[in-house]
Amino acid sequence: MMGALFRRRLATSIALGMVAIAGAMLASGGAAADDKPAKSDDGRLTREEAKKLKTPVPYSKESIVRGKNLYIRKCTECHGADAKSQVDVVANATDLTEPKLWKSGTSEGEIFRSIRDGAGEAMPPFKAEVEKEKDIWDMANFLRSLWPAPMRPKLSEATSH
Ligand code: HEC
Repeated sequence: MMGALFRRRLATSIALGMVAIAGAMLASGGAAADDKPAKSDDGRLTREEAKKLKTPVPYSKESIVRGKNLYIRKCTECHGADAKSQVDVVANATDLTEPKLWKSGTSEGEIFRSIRDGAGEAMPPFKAEVEKEKDIWDMANFLRSLWPAPMRPKLSEATSH
């Protein structure tokens, strides 16, 4: 009779409830178990806090490729497909291939901060647009892969999860 249908409805609403809870956790800056949340009081990192932050995601080919795909989806409108910000230049977006020109720091934690919390006047925060903080670390790894060879980290063979 109604039993099966009811049970399915119940299962659906429990599933939806869990999605809502997960969404609320993301929106409030809460992180999934595999992420280390990093924040000061207002949820944004200071430059000093960012400098101390170490990436939990090894600089591996796998991470760089993930970061590249995210970059293509989210960042090219301002920084351009080549990340040089020359063709699609928006409000002085930084040439991301030239770390000497960066204004908000080039340590892994500072890159994470620029992407997650925004940088300068016109770089928007991407905190709410990524599913998990690992996405940001992957993008940071991709950006570092664009740098001149002597400035790149050593490639790790480890997989990132
Ligand atoms: C709406 C345009 C816009 C989008 C979209 C955008 N950026 Fe930016 N970005 C900027 C601007 C403008 C700056 C320079 C900010 C400043 O004045 O310091 C910047 C700066 C940065 C910096 C700091 C560089 C420095 O000078 O230290 C990083 C890192 C960065 N962007 C990465 C990204 C990544 C990764 C994405 C995609 C997730 C992205 N940006 C998307 C406009 C954008």
